[in-house]
Amino acid sequence: MADPLYICKVIQSALIPVAGHGTRLLPATKSQPKEMLPVARKPIVQYVAEELVANGINQMLFITGRNKASIENHFDSDPELMRVLASTNKQELLDELKFEELQANFFYTRQRQQKGLGDAILCGESFAGELPFVVALGDSILGMNGESKAVSRLSQLFTEMRASCVIAVEEVAEEDVSHYGIIDPGEGEGDWVRVKNLVEKPNKNAAPSRWAISGRYAFSPLIFDMIRRVKPDKRGEIQLTNAMQLLCEEGKRVLALKLPKIDKRYDIGNFPSYFETFVEFALADPLYGADFRVALKKMLERK
Ligand code: UTP
Repeated sequence: MADPLYICKVIQSALIPVAGHGTRLLPATKSQPKEMLPVARKPIVQYVAEELVANGINQMLFITGRNKASIENHFDSDPELMRVLASTNKQELLDELKFEELQANFFYTRQRQQKGLGDAILCGESFAGELPFVVALGDSILGMNGESKAVSRLSQLFTEMRASCVIAVEEVAEEDVSHYGIIDPGEGEGDWVRVKNLVEKPNKNAAPSRWAISGRYAFSPLIFDMIRRVKPDKRGEIQLTNAMQLLCEEGKRVLALKLPKIDKRYDIGNFPSYFETFVEFALADPLYGADFRVALKKMLERK
C-alpha cells in the first residue's frame, strides 16, 4: 500500500544515531565515541556528514549519549585554532578545517539510555515532524571516502514509489549472512526490489537472500508508530529491524535499494572491519597512500 500521508520532492533531513556504547571496540571506546575514531585522516562521522551533504541533506540530527560531546565539538568552528594557523601561514592545515563550513544545520539530542537503534531513532520524532527522513548510521561509511550517491537514489525511489521505507542493501557472502539483517526479496525492477520481510542474523541455510541491510534508510514518519509497538529483545533493546518487519506485516510499501559494488559499506563496529577499512582508506590517500603502500609491502615481506 502506498503511504498517503505526504508528497515531497526530496528528503532534506537525516537522523544520525551515534549513541551506542561501542563495546566491541573497547578499550578504544572507553571514553571516546567509536564514531570519532579516525579512518585514515578523518573521523568516521565526518565522512558520514559529508556524504549526506553531497546527497542534498541540509538538516542533521545527531542522536548522541554520554561521552559523545566530541562529536558536537568536531562540527563546531574553532576560531582560536584558525587564528593560530592563519598567523603561522599554515594554509594547507586551514584547508583541512573547511568541513566546518558544511552547508547544513546540525542538531543534537541525547538518547538517555542505550536501548537499541529503534529507541535511538524514536528520539528524532519531533525533529522529523510530518516529513520523511533519512537514517545514516554514524559508524558506517558508504563507498570509498564516503563518496556514495546512494542516499540521493534512496530519496528519489522513496518519493517516486511513494514508499513507507526504502532500505539500502548490500550483497554479502553466504557465510556472512548470519552477521546482518537480511531481506526476503519480492519482485523488483533494475536496482530495487520489494521487501516481503526481514530476518535478523539468520543462519546461512535459513537466509531468504544474501542482501544485507547496510546502514542507510529512508522512512516515512509512520516508522515511529511501528517502533513504539516493538517489544524489547532479550537485552532490553528496541530493534529497528523489528519495526521494519511490522511495516511489512501491515502491507506498507517497503523497498530495498541494491547498492552497486562501488558503494561498499564500511562498517566500523568491530576491530577486523575497522583495521581493514583504515588500511584501505590509507592506501587510497592522495598524499600519503603511495608511500604507505611501499611501507606496508615491506612489513608484509618481513614475515
Ligand atoms: P551497533 O549496533 O553497532 O551498537 O550500533 P553499539 O552499541 O554502538 O555497539 P556494540 O554492539 O556495543 O559494539 C549501530 C549504530 O547505532 C547507534 C550506534 O552509535 C551506531 O552508530 N546506536 C546503537 C544508538 O545510537 N543507540 C543505541 O542504543 C544503539
